[in-house]
Amino acid sequence: MIPHSRPTLDESDLFSVSEVIRSGRIVQGEVVEKFEKKAAKFIGVDGAVATNTGTSALHLALLAIGIKKGDYVAIPSFVCTALLNAVRYVGAHPTLVDIDPETYNIDIRDLKKRVKKSTKAIILPHLFGLPADIDEIMSLGIPVIEDCAQAIGAIYKGGKTGSFGRLSCFSFYATKVLSTGEGGMVVSDSKILLKKIRDFRDYDNKKSYSVRYNYKMTDIQAAMGIAQLKKLHSFLLKRVNIAKRYSSALQEFCNVPSIRYKDRKHIFFRFPIQIQGNVSKALDFFSERGVTCARPVFKPIHKYLQINGFPNTDTIWNNTISIPIYPSLTDKEICKILDVLKLYLKKEGLS
Ligand SMILES: Cc1ncc(COP(=O)(O)O)c(C=O)c1O
Repeated sequence: MIPHSRPTLDESDLFSVSEVIRSGRIVQGEVVEKFEKKAAKFIGVDGAVATNTGTSALHLALLAIGIKKGDYVAIPSFVCTALLNAVRYVGAHPTLVDIDPETYNIDIRDLKKRVKKSTKAIILPHLFGLPADIDEIMSLGIPVIEDCAQAIGAIYKGGKTGSFGRLSCFSFYATKVLSTGEGGMVVSDSKILLKKIRDFRDYDNKKSYSVRYNYKMTDIQAAMGIAQLKKLHSFLLKRVNIAKRYSSALQEFCNVPSIRYKDRKHIFFRFPIQIQGNVSKALDFFSERGVTCARPVFKPIHKYLQINGFPNTDTIWNNTISIPIYPSLTDKEICKILDVLKLYLKKEGLS
């Protein structure tokens, strides 16, 4: 069975982690600091604060910019509930926004219609690895937190995603582009905001009391992050090459993501394809033939909240599947995925 996603690990990860274990210093320490510095340099920002998950990175980013009870935060509906949770953790409400069905990112026209005075921040994911319309969204004048959980290494107008927002968040969950098992990071050019986040991250040894968290990354995780960062360039190349193969085989028959963009670089964390048949039946068809595909977003947020008015998100949720794409896919596996896809398209009368 070919899994829908899989971490890309090798001996260099094992070596890096075992060095930390051998040192006996396994909690947050020098290795986390080193990982933060290397990640900040890669992204092109002044500083970074590593966290235990991407969700806690979002939580701390919202706290740092002062989002509080009763505020609204704009987020797309077509995204995992981590964003909604972070908004709720600070007592705020979501301003849900529809997506552009071509890019799967926030639809700027819909965003403009929905923001109100009380919308105090925008969490802007670069979904599936494609940078969103950062300039247009930043021009609204509302603080933007870039959500780069799926887009480390993606490029927008010459700059890395994560270098534009007031703060930007990353996830290093097991099957993300860069993995530390679980992990996250907040990056920024603002020393003041980074200092606040560093303070929130750890509750111990503080002169005075205020509510703080235990959102620390361990040196074991950071060691893996450093090893993974060294391989990131080759990970991204592999993802793009697989995307090119999928695209040239499938673009005649169904709607697939574009490979070339004028002003941005897609890193293909996911490869969503729009099909004509029923999504659940299609997923069963692939699974019965040894290929695990998935809905790219388990369930849109407006469906959890039982509200209507997100037609593009509804359409995409009803017709889009995500096929396996990750660096450790073998040539044989890629051929099998394409064979099963062609079989499906033939059955549907599309090829
Ligand atoms: C866009 C986006 N933001 C945030 C998160 C949350 O990251 P984590 O699972 O590390 O908490 C995810 C995780 O899947 C994600 O896809």
